[in-house]
Amino acid sequence: MIDIHTHVLNNIRNDDGPRDINRSRLMLQKAAEDGVKTIVATPHMLTPIEGRKEEIMEAISLLNQAEIELIPGSEIFADDAVLKSDENLITLGDSNYLLIEFPRAELPGYVDEIFFELQTKGYECIFAHPERNGSVVSDPNLLIDIIHAGVLTQINAGSILGRYGKESKKTAQILLEHNMVHFIASDMHSDKNRYYSLKEAVDEASKYTENALDLVTTNPETILNKEYLEPGDPREYKKRGFWFFKF
Ligand SMILES: [Fe+2]
Repeated sequence: MIDIHTHVLNNIRNDDGPRDINRSRLMLQKAAEDGVKTIVATPHMLTPIEGRKEEIMEAISLLNQAEIELIPGSEIFADDAVLKSDENLITLGDSNYLLIEFPRAELPGYVDEIFFELQTKGYECIFAHPERNGSVVSDPNLLIDIIHAGVLTQINAGSILGRYGKESKKTAQILLEHNMVHFIASDMHSDKNRYYSLKEAVDEASKYTENALDLVTTNPETILNKEYLEPGDPREYKKRGFWFFKF
């Protein structure tokens, strides 16, 4: 398996990953035991940071991992200053894919323009954990136009397993059932409470989609091989009743 969203590096400015290198090693060990072969380290990029790529590369080389392939990346907050700073647009590995996160409560009105501008610069975009965003929880169909515009989505293993609450879990199920998910990733932050098994999440996800395993194998492999991943055709979610909104 390949995990494209993690906070496994320590001593990275603005990130909230492990507090020392031994904890980083423990996280990688747990991932390896789970069957993960490749991890993309994606520290938060909340504001422009000079020398960020070098900082990430140094942390990776200090870990000196043999068991797991560790690749540089970034989780880029959809902030104007960051998005306008080319040096800070760190892609996943050598691909041209960017992992983008939005404010948790609701999607900003300019979300389409953000993706369009990045695509115009030659990037492809991955929307990080939309199932945890208030706007998407209220209306999962918001993702249809976004995916039609060529954007891919990544949901968290913990959401599928219910670790972020009922709303994220239900939304993750809906997205999986309606062909609106391209990757599952751990988004792990520590060796303890925020590490969630990818394998267990894939098993659970397979109740809702036939291609659950692709979301941690062939799909991430395709983009890390610098190939284009077709976003596919999302299906509209039809609300079955008012009870869903009672959570
Ligand atoms: Fe993250």
